[in-house]
Amino acid sequence: MNGIKVGIVGVGNCASALVQGVEYYKDAKANGDLVGLNHSDFAGFHVRDIQFVAAFDVAEGKVGADLSDAIFAHPNNVMRFADVPKTGVKVLKGPVHDGVDDILRALVKVSDSTEVDVVKALKDSACEIVVNLLPGSAEEATKFYANACLEAGCAFINGAPIPIASDQEWSKKYSEKGLPLVGDDIQDQLGSTVLHRNLLQLLVARGVKVDKSYQLDVGGGAESLDSHYRGRMRKRGVKSGAISQDLPYDAPLVAGSSDYVPFMDNSRESYFYILGRQFGGAPIKVDIRMEVTDGPNAGPILIDAIRGAKLALKRELSGSLESISAYGFKMPPTPTTMYKAERWVEEFLLGKRKL
Ligand SMILES: NC(=O)c1ccc[n+]([C@@H]2O[C@H](COP(=O)([O-])OP(=O)(O)OC[C@H]3O[C@@H](n4cnc5c(N)ncnc54)[C@H](O)[C@@H]3O)[C@@H](O)[C@H]2O)c1
Repeated sequence: MNGIKVGIVGVGNCASALVQGVEYYKDAKANGDLVGLNHSDFAGFHVRDIQFVAAFDVAEGKVGADLSDAIFAHPNNVMRFADVPKTGVKVLKGPVHDGVDDILRALVKVSDSTEVDVVKALKDSACEIVVNLLPGSAEEATKFYANACLEAGCAFINGAPIPIASDQEWSKKYSEKGLPLVGDDIQDQLGSTVLHRNLLQLLVARGVKVDKSYQLDVGGGAESLDSHYRGRMRKRGVKSGAISQDLPYDAPLVAGSSDYVPFMDNSRESYFYILGRQFGGAPIKVDIRMEVTDGPNAGPILIDAIRGAKLALKRELSGSLESISAYGFKMPPTPTTMYKAERWVEEFLLGKRKL
């Protein structure tokens, strides 16, 4: 068996897209029609090698349900693109910590089921890799799961914008336990950060001096509610920091989550504004709007990150994986340009780069 045993923390929209994606692409052929998937095979593993063995949430309607049902339970509003058969994995209730605050309670009713012993549940399920998909402001809860993974002997992929893989102390703890760590904050396949980074790179490569730029972002998923009210400054710091990697000089750059619009469901609209100068100081203005669906945008990155983490486990590597993190996450331990990150991953896969 070439299986990769994965646990999910936070069965929200992103988790739904991930679970649906593994079903949807289970028969993807290397040279076939790979719409939306970067690689059918990656790091020596096929998408179908990913096997969900544990899941944790706190929401009524998700806790106690089979993972295949929980991924469509309220308030998830991501599109349904795969019929996921019963997984046999029951969503377990973990501790709430700061996962659901007063604002999120408008959408999430906390289940009154009994909390499980998370470390024991991870061990019992033989989970190898945990993907953290908690709300972006759930710092305490994220740290709780990062610690539980250290105790249970699982690699940790942090999809949330909380410094774990990018924090030297956490990286050291994972090194000491011989476990890989990946993160932080997923960089979507083609989301606002990637588009903004590419626009800036293009302008720089064509000799334009970028004077200033902003990106506004609205969405209707629960995460947009959280990042608008609770995590606004955190998300703005991470997104602005990521796009600044692609500008070889300082300029005022602002990118962040700007509002929560419930009727948008899981779609997200981003507005990009760039002002610069070209030949002879002639002004150039770029004004673009992009609309995407949030959850599926994270799918291919998570699917690759899981396979990258499994390769690291096989190679007995530990601590923060700088290549996979820089490739798929907005706040990696070693930030770099997008294209350098892709090169690092190729070198990592070939064994020419250690982490
Ligand atoms: N494309 C993307 O969706 C994308 C991109 C970048 C980063 N991210 C990050 O991924 C994470 C997940 O995003 P999402 O859109 O799926 O969010 P979501 O709000 O849809 O899902 C979060 C889930 O966590 C659950 N939860 C809350 N507290 C919990 C606790 N203490 N224990 C267990 N479960 C708990 C909620 O009930 C919910 O099911 C966020 O941190 C977000 O910033 C997502």
